[in-house]
Amino acid sequence: MRRIVLASGKGGVGRTTLVANVGIALAKMGKSTVLVDASLTTPNLGPLFKLEKVPYTLNDVLAGEIPLSDAIYSGPHGLRIAPASVVLEHAKKVNPFKLPHVLSTLDARVDFLIIDAPGGLRKETVAALRAGEEVVLVTLPETTSISNMMRTRVMAEFLGFTPTGIIVNRVLGEEFEFPSAEVKRLLNLPLLGEIPEDINVRKAWRKGEPVLEAYPKSSASKAIMKLAEKLVKSG
Ligand SMILES: Nc1ncnc2c1ncn2[C@@H]1O[C@H](COP(=O)(O)OP(=O)(O)O)[C@@H](O)[C@H]1O
Ligand SMILES: [Mg+2]
Repeated sequence: MRRIVLASGKGGVGRTTLVANVGIALAKMGKSTVLVDASLTTPNLGPLFKLEKVPYTLNDVLAGEIPLSDAIYSGPHGLRIAPASVVLEHAKKVNPFKLPHVLSTLDARVDFLIIDAPGGLRKETVAALRAGEEVVLVTLPETTSISNMMRTRVMAEFLGFTPTGIIVNRVLGEEFEFPSAEVKRLLNLPLLGEIPEDINVRKAWRKGEPVLEAYPKSSASKAIMKLAEKLVKSG
């Protein structure tokens, strides 16, 4: 099983969007895939799969109340999702440090486990990184986002992980942007994907559906399919 964590310096870079859609892409390619929302204080993955009202969530698992298998739900194309609770009260009862152990109980037949790590340098972020194996860094093509991502890289390395690559999201191709090739050179890491700025991503969020489902032919969807193919090949 490949355990991939998508991490970034801050929220708002499109991590949840990428976790959801890369998950769909992998499922479409016939890979057994489980998505986990480790972004416990900003849980946005569940709603994108209309799972905000489910009876059990990852929070119950991390509170030691139920096994992980009871908090995994079916999504499109056989994709499976472990959402975190959207109820603020439920964020209190969790012990994020249980995450690595909890995820180690997953069925070995799973091909890909994709973890949506929270932004920042908090204990939830540390727990999410420790639950994974391959750390993929997500950034916007701008200086602040890149320097925040570099801080996350340092933290990942401190924990013993060498990030496996970078995804640059929301690329307009404008001159004022930080070029992806430059990001790659600066960090000396492979560029796994460059996802264009695409209005369809926001339209899809508004519809409450991942863009790959709502607008499979959009430029973002095509780039995300390519990214998923690259992830499969890099394994
Ligand atoms: N490639 C893209 N093009 C346009 N909008 C995007 C793209 N990726 C993400 N977004 C938008 O950015 C916002 C933040 O995305 P989200 O996945 O919630 O980020 P994070 O999980 O990093 O906080 C959402 O409103 C989403 O619609
Ligand atoms: Mg998010």
